Amino acid sequence: MKELRERTALITGASRGLGLVIARSLAREGMNLALAARSAETLERVAAELRTLGVKVTTIPTDVSKESDLRHLVDQTRKEFGTIDLLVNNAGIEAFRPFHLIEPADIIETLQVNLTATLLLTRFVLPHMLEAGRGHIVNMASTAGKYGPAYGAAYGASKSGMIAFTQSLRGELYKTGVSASAICPGFARDGGIYEVIRARTGKSTPWYLGSTSAEAVARAVIKAVKQDRPDLVVNFPALRPVFALCQAFPRLGEWIVRTTTRRYLKLAASRES
Ligand SMILES: NC(=O)c1ccc[n+]([C@@H]2O[C@H](COP(=O)([O-])OP(=O)(O)OC[C@H]3O[C@@H](n4cnc5c(N)ncnc54)[C@H](OP(=O)(O)O)[C@@H]3O)[C@@H](O)[C@H]2O)c1
Repeated sequence: MKELRERTALITGASRGLGLVIARSLAREGMNLALAARSAETLERVAAELRTLGVKVTTIPTDVSKESDLRHLVDQTRKEFGTIDLLVNNAGIEAFRPFHLIEPADIIETLQVNLTATLLLTRFVLPHMLEAGRGHIVNMASTAGKYGPAYGAAYGASKSGMIAFTQSLRGELYKTGVSASAICPGFARDGGIYEVIRARTGKSTPWYLGSTSAEAVARAVIKAVKQDRPDLVVNFPALRPVFALCQAFPRLGEWIVRTTTRRYLKLAASRES
């Protein structure tokens, strides 16, 4: 989808963190916005700010773990704007803990919010996009979906599920005018999840793991839509070569990932225990 002006975007998890920065960037592109998250008041504050950019903004309080809320979200957005041209499945939660200690309820919630909600919301939006012959779905995955992180097993599983789901969609949607992309940020500064981990550990990621800005993630969303990219890894230093190495040489890849990430991730998990 090359032109975004006056088209409609539905963004989940838009009340703070990456979702908020993505919403701002899409508003600057001239998109009208439907913003979803659980906290109605925060959403309203965000909407008031974004309306000053001259676009239409509606807020729809939604718990993405509830199927009825997801159906209502799609109905309300269509009622308000007529179409949904872009869906950004961004709402997400992290659960960094040693896997043998993680609460079963946290495993279920992580998969429900990050993965099941992404599939269901896409399922509800897609028929309308196909009917219009136009649309794009952006799934906010993570580098944790490219290589499962130690101490973040449920989170990594949900994010790799999002990447595989995006690939399946692209295979099905070829030449329909509708497409999908996965965005895979590393640790995102001024994104909420990383800031929580940084506060918990008292440490930034080591330089060789790097990080990204929320603005860079938002730029990647726009690039993915305009250029119909399958997936974009957003991090400095670049990590795609490392993931390619992991595919080609699994044992060497595993050693590199373990050596560079395990200590930091263990710290992130242990502070939560
Ligand atoms: N920050 C990073 O370093 C990083 C890196 C890679 C990928 N990501 C991914 O990027 C996305 C956004 O992360 P973030 O760091 O911006 O997180 P965040 O600051 O914690 O924000 C999460 C957003 O999701 C919403 N949310 C959470 N549970 C929800 C639910 N059940 N129903 C509806 N909305 C819900 C929150 O709003 P309410 O609480 O009001 O509902 C909030 O708007 C996530 O999918 C995350 O996995 C983040």
